[in-house]
Amino acid sequence: MIVSTNKSNPNALKLLIGGEISGNSVDVRIVPTNDSPLGRLPTLKLPNGITLISSNAALQYLVPGDEQQDVLVNKWLEWDSTQLQPAVVSYGSSGSLDTSHKPRIWSLLTQLNTSLKSQKYVITASPTSADIAIFSTLWCTITVTEISKELSTEFPHVDRWLKDLEALPAMQSPLSKLPLLDLERGLKSISSLHTSTWFPLNSYTGVRSQKPPQDVNTPSSPTKEPETAITKHELETSRNNWSSPAHPSIKPPTYPVLPKQNERNILITSALPYVNNVPHLGNIIGCVLSADVFARYCRQRDYNTLYISGTDEYGTATEAKALEENMTPQEICDKYFGIHNDIYRWFNIGFDYFGRTTTPEQTEIVQESFLRIKSQGYIITESVDQLLCEHCDRFLADRFVEGTCPGCKYEDARGDQCDGCGHLVNATDLINPRCKVCSKTPVIKASNQFFLDLPKIQPNLKEWASKAEKFWSNVARAVTRPWLRDGLKQRCITRDLKWGIPVPLEGFRDKVFYVWFDAPLGYISITKRYTQEYERWWKPREDTKVDLYQFMAKDNVPFHAIMFPATLLAADQGHTLVKHIMATEYLNYEDTKFSKSRGIGVFGTDARETGIPADVWRFYLTYIRPESQDSNFNWVDLATKNNSELLNNFGNFVNRALTFAVKNFKGVVPEMEIREEDLQVLALVQRELSQYIVAMEQGKFRDGVRHLLAISKHGNQYMQSQQPWVLIKEKGKDRVRAAGTVIGVCCNISCLLSALLGPFMPETSRELRKQLGLDGSTYGYIPDTVSILLPTGHQLGEASPLFSKIEESVVEELRKKYAGKQENGNNGTRAGESVEELQALIAAQGVKVRELKAKTDKSVWQPEVQILLQLKGKLAKMTESSEGTVNTATIGVEKQVNGPTQNGKNEYDIAALEAAIARQALFVRDLKASADRSVWQPEVNTLLKLKKELSDATGVITPNPGDKKSKKKK
Ligand code: MF3
Ligand code: ZN
Repeated sequence: MIVSTNKSNPNALKLLIGGEISGNSVDVRIVPTNDSPLGRLPTLKLPNGITLISSNAALQYLVPGDEQQDVLVNKWLEWDSTQLQPAVVSYGSSGSLDTSHKPRIWSLLTQLNTSLKSQKYVITASPTSADIAIFSTLWCTITVTEISKELSTEFPHVDRWLKDLEALPAMQSPLSKLPLLDLERGLKSISSLHTSTWFPLNSYTGVRSQKPPQDVNTPSSPTKEPETAITKHELETSRNNWSSPAHPSIKPPTYPVLPKQNERNILITSALPYVNNVPHLGNIIGCVLSADVFARYCRQRDYNTLYISGTDEYGTATEAKALEENMTPQEICDKYFGIHNDIYRWFNIGFDYFGRTTTPEQTEIVQESFLRIKSQGYIITESVDQLLCEHCDRFLADRFVEGTCPGCKYEDARGDQCDGCGHLVNATDLINPRCKVCSKTPVIKASNQFFLDLPKIQPNLKEWASKAEKFWSNVARAVTRPWLRDGLKQRCITRDLKWGIPVPLEGFRDKVFYVWFDAPLGYISITKRYTQEYERWWKPREDTKVDLYQFMAKDNVPFHAIMFPATLLAADQGHTLVKHIMATEYLNYEDTKFSKSRGIGVFGTDARETGIPADVWRFYLTYIRPESQDSNFNWVDLATKNNSELLNNFGNFVNRALTFAVKNFKGVVPEMEIREEDLQVLALVQRELSQYIVAMEQGKFRDGVRHLLAISKHGNQYMQSQQPWVLIKEKGKDRVRAAGTVIGVCCNISCLLSALLGPFMPETSRELRKQLGLDGSTYGYIPDTVSILLPTGHQLGEASPLFSKIEESVVEELRKKYAGKQENGNNGTRAGESVEELQALIAAQGVKVRELKAKTDKSVWQPEVQILLQLKGKLAKMTESSEGTVNTATIGVEKQVNGPTQNGKNEYDIAALEAAIARQALFVRDLKASADRSVWQPEVNTLLKLKKELSDATGVITPNPGDKKSKKKK
């Protein structure tokens, strides 16, 4: 990365420190002051060619904070640029001290001191961007003025904080480079802060606020930076950019895509879905769709991009499904692979290759990796107890064994759970266990399994993660940190199952590899199916850099942050390790969970039956992508966003521009004579474009969509204020010319929009390009700057509406259709609309709040408490107005609820407990299917605790509601 700066500019110091702390090598170029975009210095040029012109934004790019810090960090960064720096400038203007400004500095230092004191700050090896910014401003300026003498007595916390930061090892190299920048500790720099080239200051004066930032303990919600007026420099830049189009085009697709020297090589994966589950909307946005949006963006930026994924086909789940559907496991895989493939094709997911794990390549790579890692000393053996059916000659996975519950003596308990009492059972504890397939009695047998020696790799892994994690999404970091903090444990990577890749060692050939080891290596084997030269991506040559981006939902983070990198590090063969873990939170469905068995939610195969185009699904799912917290799919919202944003905003703008051109200019782009008012809109569009690119680069697709929509909003406003339809009627030559300019500009903005829309709505993007008279089989290059894309004389195509309205009655129908089948037949009841659902929500929310309170601070849990209170209020209202209608039957506790209770619990507490138990049981069952014991065991404990609470309260061992239902179905 390159920092361009004028001499004596303290903001350059920020970027040097930021570079050092983030481990990015940053080169400094001293440039003349007039040699800068928008007149701002310093700037930071990123490897992808983008230049960031706000030093604080650049700093944040280098040193991204985590979610919880963000609000605060933003506040203090703003404080630095809008308060501290202006005050320092006034104080030291013209190189001498103007002591009349001393009180201002004094008050700001007081604010800082108070905050540092109340935070009981700890300086760690990685200060935040706000620390760095404020340090740089102070250190280069007033620390040697007479105020500095008073620092230690008047502002002891500031003083300490400055000294601690200064002593950090990471500060030494940047501080030693100061002479190069013609900076030094102290006043000298103040004069250069005041030069007119220091634009962050000037452009902020309009919004400078005198209010101190809020107290750090009660941060307000992050507010959008107020829109500042377009500066002269922005106008100037827009004028220059407009007439100097220099658009690299997208290289035509080639096969195979291989990494190249001196290019940005981007390898993208999305988590391999289990083959036997039909993906729902949440799965789709979490993995394949997010990765596709990014892959399309990268291709439209002409990065060298490869996107691969595939189905994860081995394991018990497949075996079980095969038994259920009376097919062989391979037949099941073939069938469901087809289903996945069809769904993703319908959603227009543009994989370079969508593969699967049941291939010879996978077998070879998994076996070879295992032997390699074993020879490196990272595999250990240990004995594990399991049930073996000698008749069927197989070890029985939990779901393949039944027997008598050791607790309630119910005779048909399963190996994981008893339907009689709801207790979770250990398969080996069942009385009279029987094999589910042949009904014979299995025996307990100890067998040796292989474990990956994670404790031994931990130091390596930790070191890698500490550097790598700054490029991960917040939830990826949040999930990984406790694993590393609490110490990794040996992880079993083999099983005595049939459907899997055999362990390639004599005496162990009847064992297969388990998902933890097998699945992630699928990325490599699938790449090998795509090209024999797959190692160019996975073991790149020294001179070629590959950036690996892996997309997933948060439950898959341990695979990508722990298991896969640990495997590759243990192999020690120079593999590509993940750089960006792009994990999302969960998507809920109409305030509840997706559930295939209960028929709740839209699954991949349903989407196309709704009649809503794939592009609209893609748009809305990206719009609500759960980036920083769980988000919610909502039908009414889908219709609203379609109708307001796509139809009225975006569609309306491009359609008006095109129709007007067709009607009044014979469908030819008119002559354009750019005036001040045209430059205004171009500058606004430029701002959004720059932010779109920054957002997309960081995987913040929600923001990406919003900047895109902001551009068409600006376009609409521009058209509205210019009124070309009036201009054109006013005869006079210059009037007509003005109308032509407006329409020409609008057509060009539409063309830019067609490119920016590509990653989200590929089909619509191509349709729009066709209407613009471009090649509708290709996508547009996403440029850095706004310039002429459609020159005067360009022949446009035919305009027609891109979107259609979604009526409320339609979504109401759809909402009902996918709301789930309830036992009592009240199809369509929404989560939180029945007393039971509400109680379940309350119970779940209660647990969430309790957990948050233990782990986070008030700013985080307070909003959740609000939600809890709201839910309780809603419940109170509901039970008031519908007394006697509390239908506990659906949650299976009719009798006990009205009976005498112990512990003073009323029947609502009990119903809520019941509901919480039902949810937790479902959760545990899901976890057991996909995760290892270390993951589900704590959840099982929670479940048992809840059950204990319930039996204490009722004095009765209650049946488990969730299971009662499933028993009935049998
Ligand atoms: N199929 C597994 C799951 O969905 C693992 C996917 S992550 C991978 O949980 F890295 F293994 F692909
Ligand atoms: Zn058997």
